[in-house]
Amino acid sequence: MQDWNLDERQRNSLKYFIDHATDWRRRAEADGRRRVSTILQRNTHAIALVKTNPERYKTALDLGCGTGELVMDLARLGVKSYGIDYSEKMIELAIEKAERLKLSARCTFAVDSVMDHEFVNQRFDVVTAFGFIEYLRPEELPAFFAKCRQLVNDGGMLLLGSRNRLFNVLSLNQFTKAEIGAGTINTLLQEAVDLVAAESFADFVNIAINDTTATGVLNEYPQTDVAVAGYQYTPSELIRLLDQASFKITAVSPVHFHALVPAIARENAELHAQFSNTIHEQYRGEYRLVPQSSTYILYAE
Ligand SMILES: C[S@@+](CC[C@H](N)C(=O)[O-])C[C@H]1O[C@@H](n2cnc3c(N)ncnc32)[C@H](O)[C@@H]1O
Repeated sequence: MQDWNLDERQRNSLKYFIDHATDWRRRAEADGRRRVSTILQRNTHAIALVKTNPERYKTALDLGCGTGELVMDLARLGVKSYGIDYSEKMIELAIEKAERLKLSARCTFAVDSVMDHEFVNQRFDVVTAFGFIEYLRPEELPAFFAKCRQLVNDGGMLLLGSRNRLFNVLSLNQFTKAEIGAGTINTLLQEAVDLVAAESFADFVNIAINDTTATGVLNEYPQTDVAVAGYQYTPSELIRLLDQASFKITAVSPVHFHALVPAIARENAELHAQFSNTIHEQYRGEYRLVPQSSTYILYAE
């Protein structure tokens, strides 16, 4: 661990993800029928992708795999699946569960920092990073996407999740105040309008790639339900970086859709879950619902 290239914020995150591994296991195993689980919604994307074409997607790598639930879900579908995470406690729980469920033959886990790990000639049909890039330093992203480019097989797919900075416009809470304070709200609003008004997602990708507006990184956000600081990105910021790494971006999907502003969603969790899970089931890949979603997934090949 000592020679991993982590800054202080990342070392704090690592400590958090070691100390809270069992909480993450509980979150990752959440029963999505009763409440909204961002993790289950995210994982469904990778599972559905493999199911659409099991012949094409035979190997998978999950970056920042936490307690390994997605790796195991994909292994159950017959995919040879790999997971990597720098929290040894997460990986300990993952290995123990894979053994218990007799999935070890198709699941391999490694403890390492993704940016420091050397993947020697390893390529995968599906590469996922869900709830992961939020913990990289923003300046690490170009190298991270270059690394992903090396890891995804020809004809394979990168599924990239991110906490959605655009949602700060419509959440109408402390996050919105933080963006107003930083003078970034207009840029975010403009992107939300561009996204919803685009004639197609491909149209929006073109706008994003040619956009030269820099939103700038916000270093301090109000506390979320994860007690470590993570960065947030808009779809267009990540589309530009993926494009620069020679990815073709084919879709963006809403994850954890909010029909009710967070203050009311908290008061009526059941109604919030009904809206959010319905949108998740019926509008997968609907880019126009992304501004109202606290997370999104980009598909890149
Ligand atoms: C928010 S959790 C998400 C876990 C899982 N992907 C999910 O969707 O539930 C972030 C995970 O990324 C891991 N992580 C963060 N930075 C990392 C790094 N540089 N290298 C490896 N793992 C990292 C953490 O240990 C943690 O398990």
